[in-house]
Amino acid sequence: MELLQGLSSRRSVRGFKSTPVPEEALRAILQAAIRSPSYTNTQPWEVAVVSGRKRDALSQILYDLASAGTPSSADVPAPTQWPPALAGRAAEHSARRFRVLGIERDDADGRNQLRLQNYRFFGAPCIIFLFLDSTLGDWSTFDLGLFAQTLALAAHGLGLGTCLQASVTHYPVAVRSFLDLPPSKKLVLGISLGYPDPAAPINRYESARAGLDEIVKWYR
Ligand SMILES: Cc1cc2nc3c(=O)[nH]c(=O)nc-3n(C[C@H](O)[C@H](O)[C@H](O)COP(=O)(O)O)c2cc1C
Repeated sequence: MELLQGLSSRRSVRGFKSTPVPEEALRAILQAAIRSPSYTNTQPWEVAVVSGRKRDALSQILYDLASAGTPSSADVPAPTQWPPALAGRAAEHSARRFRVLGIERDDADGRNQLRLQNYRFFGAPCIIFLFLDSTLGDWSTFDLGLFAQTLALAAHGLGLGTCLQASVTHYPVAVRSFLDLPPSKKLVLGISLGYPDPAAPINRYESARAGLDEIVKWYR
């Protein structure tokens, strides 16, 4: 796939086929991701790839916590407020997603069911968790973001889909305990990975973008 075309056609996938991802493809994607740039080439990323029965068990643990309304104790807390322009974009993102699925504004149950799909990994057969050592700072989080994007693009290049998910980081104690990792490993992101299901209605949703004029100041 041509690079610029791949960049513009990648989008978050929220409905996957259950078809397993071959280990060869997983390795190719991770091999691409480890080529990501990082601050003084420190390569701070630590990665857990979970599939098969382990994926099902971990999904159930997280789903149970989320559906019981357990408050998030994420290592990287969710923002509590946004500047107005960003809050507007976030609200539009939610509203347009609900519209695609026919979920009404006051349908609290419909919205909650959609939220809970995060913990089913949207049906993806594989979930990848990204960790950082807790001694690391903002630049390493930045590096991990680059890693996540490269991974998503490499997957896209192989015909696979991804959804980057902060939601699956809400219960880091449960994730670390399941993966037998120490508390010093900060859970930063989860990435659902699998073959996109073209029949899933949620995959009809296409996110918008602010125009260049809203983002870029030119100095000539
Ligand atoms: C750090 C981060 C966390 C995200 N968390 C979630 C999430 O928990 N659930 C979800 O459905 N999408 C999540 N997303 C996906 C965004 O909603 C998505 O990237 C954005 O709406 C733009 O859409 P696109 O990826 O299709 O271009 C996350 C994306 C990023 C970068």
